[in-house]
Amino acid sequence: MAYPKPAPDQMLIEQSPAGLRRWCAARRRAGERIGLVPTMGALHEGHLALVTALHAAVDRVIVSIFVNPTQFAPGEDYARYPRSEDSDLEKLRALGVDLAYMPTPDVMYPTGFTTEIAVGGPLTQGLDATARPGHFTGVATVVAKLLLQAMPDVAAFGEKDYQQLQIIRRMAADLDLPVEILPVKTVRDNQGLALSSRNAYLTPAERDLARQLNKILASAAAELQSGASGREACARAEAKLLAIGFTGVDYVALADPDSLAPLESLTAKGRILAAARIGKTRLIDNLAVEASR
Ligand code: PAF
Repeated sequence: MAYPKPAPDQMLIEQSPAGLRRWCAARRRAGERIGLVPTMGALHEGHLALVTALHAAVDRVIVSIFVNPTQFAPGEDYARYPRSEDSDLEKLRALGVDLAYMPTPDVMYPTGFTTEIAVGGPLTQGLDATARPGHFTGVATVVAKLLLQAMPDVAAFGEKDYQQLQIIRRMAADLDLPVEILPVKTVRDNQGLALSSRNAYLTPAERDLARQLNKILASAAAELQSGASGREACARAEAKLLAIGFTGVDYVALADPDSLAPLESLTAKGRILAAARIGKTRLIDNLAVEASR
């Protein structure tokens, strides 16, 4: 689809849900399809890939930037989460984004706000749902609000946050939200490190160490394909991470790629997912893995 890229000074910045709704309604009246990329800012190439994927699917692209307090547990990194609004807006202008939506916490959660969206089932019974209690309720609630505020035709989410992606798909289906959820492949640096805003916390030495996470998951995937059980391959991956200097491993797990229910072995398609820490920095990654025939 031909996309008329707005001039750099034409990207709108909107802070209120009412203003966002007015703009979206006008675009829809003009027969245009709208796409939304929800983000917490500190934008990197992974976010930009989501924008590029949407440009190919819709006429107008909105990027929301909102560091959502309700998805951080007490003691997590909400206060120090990287914030870089000026450079984020520059990147979005350069990519021809039509509107940057930047609501404030008191607009998203005004006094008296009490509603939560809690997705149930195996998707929220393990992995990050166990390691970060309450996290996905915060994510589902804010994503539902953003989707209802913008009512996009398509919303793009990265596979790097694979459990989040599956939970959002489930929520959109269960609530009959009229939106297509577009998954976008993880963007990695030239040594395989999945791009993440939290990588900004890493020192150069820690970044080198972090690059081993993907490699160790890839070797666990190869072991699974050679017939190792999920338990054996994941335990070995966890031991390797700790041996090379990761300071903690929340999980390495083999799961069904749709339901995320644990798998004992690889008989068809699976997903291997991990969360591990280097000092105060928590990294997550995941890989698709398929039984070799
Ligand atoms: O993936 C993220 O950056 C966040 O969890 C999201 C989807 C923007 C909700 O705050």
